[in-house]
Amino acid sequence: MQSNLYVTGTDTDIGKTWVAVRLIQALRDTGKKVQGMKPVASGCDDNGNNDDALQLRYVSTNANTPYNHVNPFAFKDAIAPEYAAKNEAREVTLDGILRAHAELAKDNDVVVIEGAGGWLSPINEELDQADVARALNAEAILVVGMRLGAIHQARAAAQAIESSGVQIKAWIANETEQGDPQFDENVATIQRYINAPLWAKIHRNEDVPYWLFDQT
Ligand SMILES: Nc1ncnc2c1ncn2[C@@H]1O[C@H](COP(=O)(O)OP(=O)(O)OP(=O)(O)O)[C@@H](O)[C@H]1O
Ligand SMILES: [Mg+2]
Repeated sequence: MQSNLYVTGTDTDIGKTWVAVRLIQALRDTGKKVQGMKPVASGCDDNGNNDDALQLRYVSTNANTPYNHVNPFAFKDAIAPEYAAKNEAREVTLDGILRAHAELAKDNDVVVIEGAGGWLSPINEELDQADVARALNAEAILVVGMRLGAIHQARAAAQAIESSGVQIKAWIANETEQGDPQFDENVATIQRYINAPLWAKIHRNEDVPYWLFDQT
């Protein structure tokens, strides 16, 4: 059965793309057909392409998937999507995301969807990340940016995901540029508050040492 994983995070810039790229590769290694998707992206090159979307497409089973299916809403300015869309007098719609996703779901076992910003970053006044994840029937993969302060951020994000009715499939500990001198202790503490398995524990600049998939 086709499944959807919504890669979200405790913040912007904490490694969602970095993790999603490697998650796609790891899922492909299990023999599945996998496609990356970045429904809403702000910050594009002169061709109107966003770097996250390009990276996700590049590692997908079909690296030539039409760009507008991978990233139906691409905005030029690298600012919150609500403002970036307004600057172009455009609006993100759930319907537009669902139509692009349907094209990807046809040919793949798993679609790995990267959210925009952190879990509670709104997409616009009408739309939240939770609305997208629910409409796609996706389970969340929570990337926790490991640094001082991560415990609070991880608890808050996990509670918000669960209270929105989205299931957390797994979480991933990814050390930030800032570093985390108590990485192992913090991982253990965060695990107390997340009712889902840890799929990977990634030290900065080390490639993922192991993936702990249960079933996907
Ligand atoms: N474990 C890691 N080791 C080395 N570099 C990393 C690691 N994780 C992330 N990075 C780097 O940190 C930066 C931010 O990561 P990334 O772009 O994946 O964040 P993001 O959460 O997807 O950000 P955005 O909210 O903009 O989508 C990137 O330059 C990425 O290459
Ligand atoms: Mg990203």
